[in-house]
Amino acid sequence: MNVEQFFDQVLTVRLTPDRRALDIIDQTLLPGTIRRINLETKEEIWEAIKKLRVRGAPAIGVSAAYGMAVLSSRIEAADFESFYAEFTALKDYLASSRPTAVNLFWALNRMDACAKKAGQEGRSLDEIRELLYREADAIQAEDVQISRNIGEIGFGLLKKLKKDGEPVGILTHCNAGTLATAKYGTATAPMYIALEHGWAGTDMHVYCDETRPLLQGARLTSFELNSAGITTTVQCDNMASLLMKSGKIDIIFVGCDRVAANGDAANKIGTSGVAILAKHYGIPFYVCAPSSTIDRATPTGDQIPIEMRDPDEVTQMWYKERMAPQGIDVFNPAFDVTDHSLITGMITEKGLCTDPYDKDFDRYGI
Ligand code: MRU
Repeated sequence: MNVEQFFDQVLTVRLTPDRRALDIIDQTLLPGTIRRINLETKEEIWEAIKKLRVRGAPAIGVSAAYGMAVLSSRIEAADFESFYAEFTALKDYLASSRPTAVNLFWALNRMDACAKKAGQEGRSLDEIRELLYREADAIQAEDVQISRNIGEIGFGLLKKLKKDGEPVGILTHCNAGTLATAKYGTATAPMYIALEHGWAGTDMHVYCDETRPLLQGARLTSFELNSAGITTTVQCDNMASLLMKSGKIDIIFVGCDRVAANGDAANKIGTSGVAILAKHYGIPFYVCAPSSTIDRATPTGDQIPIEMRDPDEVTQMWYKERMAPQGIDVFNPAFDVTDHSLITGMITEKGLCTDPYDKDFDRYGI
């Protein structure tokens, strides 16, 4: 299977041919089972986002957009006012699925703006429903291009690190790959673009943090990159320090779920630890950030809401037998915030931003 065929096989989200449901790859079953499932009801869409069947900030946004298009196609209303009241209730319901990735709210707001504009223009409800499908298609198509742009900029950084006879060592955390977006991923995009530019899979060596507790690095990122023929190693999160010390890591790329106006970046729990280690060992640490993930309405990382998740994910989920005492208190935040001072640069689809981030965000119209 070539890389394009692999992208098709694991496409995070698409519509069923009759456009009555979302067709997603169930990421909770990967890598052992590649199974696509249909989501028809609002409860099924909400549950799929909450349970990480579909996950990763951009993919959550695309799913919410398609979710609103599918659900809107079934709203029975006599006029725009009653259509819009139900539309808003559905939007608020999907918005309650996960709090941190701003792409969810960004996509829902974009669908809302589309419906409102069409209503103001006096379009028929059938026309509005069609426009909502098109808006979701546009959000997905734009995400592909955004990832490509991020990949090109990231590849520019990789090229400077290319050595003779030795692979460029790249570390990544969680999964900011094709499974988290509409195609190339964000943190993985530089690697896929490198392959397009003729790099062999052995020209780079990607070290994937396992990413406790939900193992997105071990289950998803290593699966993706290995399938693409890229030399890949998985290590437990607490092994990253030794790897960095041993000189095997030349550069770090991670994704993000919400970037505050000052450049503080929320990403999968453990990311800020990677950034602190990177600073200690003098390794460049880049956050790959589509502009839809940059939330200038949130001044600093302190205001980013951090999702707390089920204790069983830590104590039980991956073990034959529960591995911690019954009833023990568990701390299970899904994300942490990396201070902007630890970030070497933020790769957006519009250009590379550096501290002071607000100035560069202004410069690129983000
Ligand atoms: O809880 P998840 O798996 O949805 O968390 C995903 C991440 O933290 C990703 O790094 C982030 O969403 C960027 S995806 C391009």
